[in-house]
Amino acid sequence: MYTTLLTSLENGILTITINRPEKLNALNKDVFTDLNTALDEIAANPDIRSVIITGAGPKAFVAGADISEFSGLDKQSAMALAKRGQDTFARIENSSKPIVAAVNGFALGGGCELAMSCHFRVASEQAKFGQPEVNLGLIPGYGGTQRLVQLIGKGKAMELLMSAHLIDATEAKQLGLVNYVTTADTLLDHTRKILEVINSKAPMAVAGCIKAANAVYDESQDGYALEIAEFGNAFDTDDMKEGVSAFLEKRKASFTGK
Ligand code: COA
Repeated sequence: MYTTLLTSLENGILTITINRPEKLNALNKDVFTDLNTALDEIAANPDIRSVIITGAGPKAFVAGADISEFSGLDKQSAMALAKRGQDTFARIENSSKPIVAAVNGFALGGGCELAMSCHFRVASEQAKFGQPEVNLGLIPGYGGTQRLVQLIGKGKAMELLMSAHLIDATEAKQLGLVNYVTTADTLLDHTRKILEVINSKAPMAVAGCIKAANAVYDESQDGYALEIAEFGNAFDTDDMKEGVSAFLEKRKASFTGK
């Protein structure tokens, strides 16, 4: 089904492995086609409760957009390339099911942008993050200038964007770019354990949290009004009735996603 991704679904968690290790999992047009197909599948398949995105091989999560596709592009086609990347990553960010990046190595350029579009990030000790586009006479095109500022603040983001300086996992954690740092061996297990907890909660409530938190960064939305609407919507769900009853009856809630 995919030419550039490996996928496996276990306990409601879909693991997507970007699988071009010989090119450090660089994002070419085939990867974007496959990612969009995977996003369709994530939205449509009720057996998928949450998603991990990681990279194949020991070296890289994703070492960036595939630079070999840049030569010969004119201004219009470069803008179309950036738009396709931004649209794909916006689909990840706005997925109603949690999508987490398990960063196992280099997350550079488009790789850092992919990780930042996920709902949060877990990194192995080998991870390295950066936006080295200025080395190529470029700027990030897949949302990096925006999400890096959102996640780590303007001052440090400006420095990283302008200097192409790479940071390691420890610094990424200090800056709030990643939530946890693990060994390479435990990265996927650790990420799965977090998602198992999230998967035990009411799916529509989880989706409401994603939607409302994303509204903070969307100027077209009133996040507080959206929170009120989502809070109200929750009262229309079976899961809210079950969650409140279970609490009052001192038992564990059993959610159905309805
Ligand atoms: N696009 C296309 N190919 C890439 C790539 C990218 N972003 N990043 C790595 N590759 C390819 C290399 O060309 C090389 O292919 P080859 O064996 O056919 O020559 C292969 O992946 C291995 O990379 P290599 O550079 O030999 O590994 P390294 O360990 O010496 O260096 C990096 C690792 C990540 C420091 C280096 O590959 C790099 O700087 N990559 C580009 C990072 C970047 O600028 N990303 C932003 C793009 S906008």
